Amino acid sequence: ASSLKDAAAAGGRVFGAVAQAARLGDADYTKTLDHEFGQLTPENEMKWNVIERVRGKFDFAAADRLLDHAESRGMEVRGSVLVWHSQLPSWVINIDSGAGLLTAVREHVDGVAGHFKGRIDYWNVVNEAFTDSGARRNSVFQERIGDSWVEEAFLAAEAADPGARLCYNDYYTDGYGPKSDAVYELVRDFVARGVPIDCVGFQAHFNSDHRVPADMGKNLQRFAELGVDVHLTELDVTGSGEVQAAAYAQAVNACLSVPRCTVMTVSGVSDKFSWNVARTPLPIDSDYGRKPAYYSVLDAL
Ligand code: XIL
Repeated sequence: ASSLKDAAAAGGRVFGAVAQAARLGDADYTKTLDHEFGQLTPENEMKWNVIERVRGKFDFAAADRLLDHAESRGMEVRGSVLVWHSQLPSWVINIDSGAGLLTAVREHVDGVAGHFKGRIDYWNVVNEAFTDSGARRNSVFQERIGDSWVEEAFLAAEAADPGARLCYNDYYTDGYGPKSDAVYELVRDFVARGVPIDCVGFQAHFNSDHRVPADMGKNLQRFAELGVDVHLTELDVTGSGEVQAAAYAQAVNACLSVPRCTVMTVSGVSDKFSWNVARTPLPIDSDYGRKPAYYSVLDAL
């Protein structure tokens, strides 16, 4: 295959990238995006502080540009993210009653998922509800609404866009541990009670403190056995050369070992505009050249 997306497609999977609307005018960026990737995730354009900075005034322009681009190239779209404790406008943080905040969550999900209805393949509905020790993160949603905020977000997303597949997304959940156990229990409970959930996103950020776990495939498989698809949603590995390449191959092989691991997405198009730019975490370098990690992924796929 001559691209990551073609190699993945030959095995029945989708290979995507996180992308930025502001870079679409850059010919090198767009050429690589279009050639290599079959799914696009807006990096920041759908986040609450961008899309509804003022209550009830939605600004869909940047996200719409990314979706128009994706659709014109036949790419899938992963929406990200409907409810997350980070990148919130201050008006949300300042709602001090649980009932009031729940209303704001419902209106936000309805406004955003409703606007994009029919154009989103997968929604990251909720990001990062747990701490690394597996407790509920002490966010504004958790404090004011309690545990039910997560399912409320999924129920609102299902109502607004019943055709989109709904995912829970988190980081450092790639292997077994207290955090991934907590997400597992959330998903098990949702499935048991009929709360709509279709997929679990594993951000798959790796670095010298968080290496690709040896039990990653086994961990992905246990989630799949709950009846959900599993996705690598922001795959990246800090570093360079063969060490980085080997870690990429290990993560991709973990996904490939699980039939329901259907989507792999890297956290950016190239190192030039990475969220972690100093750490060169992507398979394509800042001159759009193919790194050893690119070839190790291509070979693994
Ligand atoms: C990051 C973006 O990449 C940055 O541009 C932004 O400044 C901060 O957020 N987990 C997620 C992503 O789910 O949405 C985050 O994206 C990175 C961590």
